[in-house]
Amino acid sequence: MAQERMLIRGGQALTGAVHVSGGKNTAVAIIPATLLSEVPCVIENLPDIDDVCVSIQTLRYLGARVEWNPEQGVLIVDPAGVSRVDVPLELSRRMRASYYYLGALLARFGEAEVPLPGGCDIGRRPIDQHLKGFRALGAEVDTVTGVVMARTRGLIGTEIFMDMVTVGGTVNVMLAATRAQGVTTIYNAAKEPHIVDLANFLGALGCRVKGAGTDVIRVYGTDHLAQRRGYAVIPDQIETGTLMIAAAATHGDVTITGCIPTHMEALTAKLLEMGARVDEQDDAIRVRSTGVHRAVSFKTQAYPGFPTDLQQPMSALLCTAKGTSTIVENIFEQRFRHLSEIERMGASVRLFEQTAVIEGVPQLHGAAVEATDLRAGAALVVAGLMAQGTTEIYNPHFIDRGYERIEQKLSSLGAQITRIEE
Ligand code: EPZ
Repeated sequence: MAQERMLIRGGQALTGAVHVSGGKNTAVAIIPATLLSEVPCVIENLPDIDDVCVSIQTLRYLGARVEWNPEQGVLIVDPAGVSRVDVPLELSRRMRASYYYLGALLARFGEAEVPLPGGCDIGRRPIDQHLKGFRALGAEVDTVTGVVMARTRGLIGTEIFMDMVTVGGTVNVMLAATRAQGVTTIYNAAKEPHIVDLANFLGALGCRVKGAGTDVIRVYGTDHLAQRRGYAVIPDQIETGTLMIAAAATHGDVTITGCIPTHMEALTAKLLEMGARVDEQDDAIRVRSTGVHRAVSFKTQAYPGFPTDLQQPMSALLCTAKGTSTIVENIFEQRFRHLSEIERMGASVRLFEQTAVIEGVPQLHGAAVEATDLRAGAALVVAGLMAQGTTEIYNPHFIDRGYERIEQKLSSLGAQITRIEE
């Protein structure tokens, strides 16, 4: 395969305004949920990213009639023709969140076959809580040669206590519970913005969901799900945060429009603590930064704590903050691999299991570095924007999984960023 590289010539302060795209993690939950509707669904504000494309290919594989307009971010799904209940390995290998089709197909057809998601570069990422939820709802679930096979003669609402806060587990149980008989209560539920967005979409289909955004969610199962109006997904919380961090990292002045400032509070607090300026408007955030940044420390936590997905880009920014920063990664087992790449750019980092201690250095310098996962790639982009000289990022395809047209957005803010293919 041709070796693609992203080239960034650092040192340019980002200035201007940029519009954030629709959310990846909400899109990959809501797209499978369209299977639950008895009438065609319209989903708007979807980002044109690889994970969305793979989920759309999965809908088509299952037999749904799909119209996708990537420029406008509008998806029309007619699920009437769906006749399959299996997701093939070649699709599930390209998108971890394929496992959401387990909950949607189980709810719609009473059976589902989806390959187990592999672990990835940030940790083992088991889905035991998803399967525990399906079993509690009355499904038989087996894993045969790496494929999860779930069957039921009818799902019955129940009470489920999640052993840990899991976004995916909460989403999958909500999807399955929409067609269960009676009420399903999920205790210790995840509270991320995309959980609330999914609940609102299920509400638009006619399924009552109460408590989304708190740690107790009630889903009132129903057989009559028919979308009555188009639905626009929320803006991407992690893209918003990545752009905020890039603005601070380049000592720029950037306004991010189309975002939801209340989703960003944990990051905003840390940027203010570092000495950056953050001004919140109704649906925009302006980030400015001039002087030297102060070192800060944080621990990643479930929402509304500091998001693990922003740990990696934030750690790049901290590499030139004055003083010693400490990061504790509480969510995934190995989410510091990007730091060894940024060390090649001059960063000073010490790792102790789940803790990274970063000594601020005056300047990073460009180097050849390798992206190992989506947010590691985002961290390398931030580092490249900060560094003196040119940074080459190998495997930029990881970044395309979660960021729509990242080069165009950053170039519009003054970054010198291109992609070349040998
Ligand atoms: C979702 O992953 C996101 N992905 C991740 O974003 C995000 O980092 C994560 O939530 C935390 O916010 C999508 O929404 C598609 P979890 P998910 O279940 O659902 C353990 C990105 O970059 N766990 O909340 O997989 C798990 O191993 C991606 O956009 C179990 O042990 O995260 C982890 O340690 C990366 N058993 C912790 O819980 C389970 O059954 C939290 O995982 C489920 C999870």
